[in-house]
Amino acid sequence: MSVSVQSAFPINELLSKRWSPFAFEDRSVSEENLRALFEAARWSASAANEQPWSYIVATRDQPEEFARMLSCVEDINQPWAKFAPVLVLGCTRLTFEHTGLPYATAEHDLGLASANLVFEATARGLGVHQMIHIHRDRAKELYEIPEDVRPLTGLAIGYAGDDWRLPQSYQQEDQARRSRKPIDTFVFGKKWAMISPLVGR
Ligand SMILES: Cc1cc2nc3c(=O)[nH]c(=O)nc-3n(C[C@H](O)[C@H](O)[C@H](O)COP(=O)(O)O)c2cc1C
Repeated sequence: MSVSVQSAFPINELLSKRWSPFAFEDRSVSEENLRALFEAARWSASAANEQPWSYIVATRDQPEEFARMLSCVEDINQPWAKFAPVLVLGCTRLTFEHTGLPYATAEHDLGLASANLVFEATARGLGVHQMIHIHRDRAKELYEIPEDVRPLTGLAIGYAGDDWRLPQSYQQEDQARRSRKPIDTFVFGKKWAMISPLVGR
């Protein structure tokens, strides 16, 4: 189980407790919990309130649907993702719904919505491991996703656990302390790379 972070400045526990588990308990996630995750995503902010995100969801309780979704996960993520109780595909519309014009913040807004989902999950004792390594073309074909919608991320969701079915390297990574670049490497003041006095000197 991952160790909670040592933050440089105090932050909300939901943020410091969140991590991306590889190992999940062999335990379903209730429909009530899943609905709450998507409801949390629903209330995310988006440019012009466009809400460009969509999620496609498959649970291991429906083996055929789960296998279909798992086939959209790249090999590099297969060894651990195949044991997740829930797999989700995060998609985003690249154009404004009503005008068809390009929507510049489509990927940003899906990220925000997924962040809402992730923190609701954390509050409910669930873990989420996002994946950029997915087969987008395959997902588009399998789920008949419209041309202007981009399947961007996979999300593996479940209760973090010590899964003995995983290779040891994954178990070790789950136990490692999470790390981040220091805050003074990315908060600037007068110009680029000039550290803001808020966080250092
Ligand atoms: C958009 C996104 C895509 C990611 N893609 C993958 C992935 O394909 N495979 C993987 O093992 N982890 C993936 N991760 C997890 C990151 O590696 C992880 O968030 C990072 O190492 C920080 O660890 P933490 O989330 O436990 O703090 C992804 C995370 C995000 C936000």
